[in-house]
Amino acid sequence: MPVANLIDGRAIAEGIHAETARRIEALAVREVKPGLAFVRVGEDPASVVYVGMKERHSAKLGINSRTHLLPESASEAELLALIDRLNADPAVHGILVQAPLPAHIGAARVYARVRPEKDVDGFNPVNVGKLMLGDPTGFVPCTPAGVHELLIRTSVPIAGAEVVILGRGNIVGKPMASLLIQKARNANATVTVCHSQTRDLPGHCRRADIIIAAIGVARFLKADMIKPGATVIDVGVNRIPDPQAKSGSRLVGDVDFENVQPKAGWITPNPGGVGPMTIALLMRNTVRAAELASAA
Ligand code: GUN
Repeated sequence: MPVANLIDGRAIAEGIHAETARRIEALAVREVKPGLAFVRVGEDPASVVYVGMKERHSAKLGINSRTHLLPESASEAELLALIDRLNADPAVHGILVQAPLPAHIGAARVYARVRPEKDVDGFNPVNVGKLMLGDPTGFVPCTPAGVHELLIRTSVPIAGAEVVILGRGNIVGKPMASLLIQKARNANATVTVCHSQTRDLPGHCRRADIIIAAIGVARFLKADMIKPGATVIDVGVNRIPDPQAKSGSRLVGDVDFENVQPKAGWITPNPGGVGPMTIALLMRNTVRAAELASAA
């Protein structure tokens, strides 16, 4: 069956990378090279893969990146001391502390320690607050910003649309809702955030013009939960057992793609939808941090 309704996240991300590359060239004229520091604590397998991908994209674009590795046993004080060093380093324009952090480390204290001007992840409370207030001088977390760009660049109508977000996490659900409810261009949506305690979640989904699934449950969104023609964005990354795979497992999203796709208007493939956009927005945020730091 031809799949004509796919939102090609890879192609859209490439377009953003091309825009970012031009901004990097403009910085180079002023002898500024964007610098991005990754911090990874422990060896969470998904984090190893994600940080590796972000490093490769940085190198390809000409962003100076360096990964700082701490052992799983590192103390919160050691991590905060590293962040302080990176905060003070003028060659570092962006700092990304990869989540999840080990349970003995207070993630909220860690993210609050990253200087807001270097917080390209948008996790510092100053940037969280600016997003909520509609203040564009802050940094928006990369995954929700990437989903927003997918909708904009696919010309999905957002103003007045009924949007259902599945998941209320700090990385996707909450900032996604903040972005889409703003009284601003490419926003003005009516947003419902559904979660584990939501009564009649399928009923909410069936009213939605746009569903953004970030709930972390493999193939959670079924065809009978969507309105015909709805736009479906799959943020999920779930590892499920697969005896046919060499590794014994494979990754699937939060959407039951085979069944939902024929009924959807637009839909993201997974992989190849949201993932590449997260990286594209991280690169763009980093270049913006470098521009702002070197503008004075
Ligand atoms: N873990 C999963 N997504 C993200 C992200 O966007 N940023 C960071 N720092 N960690 C993550």
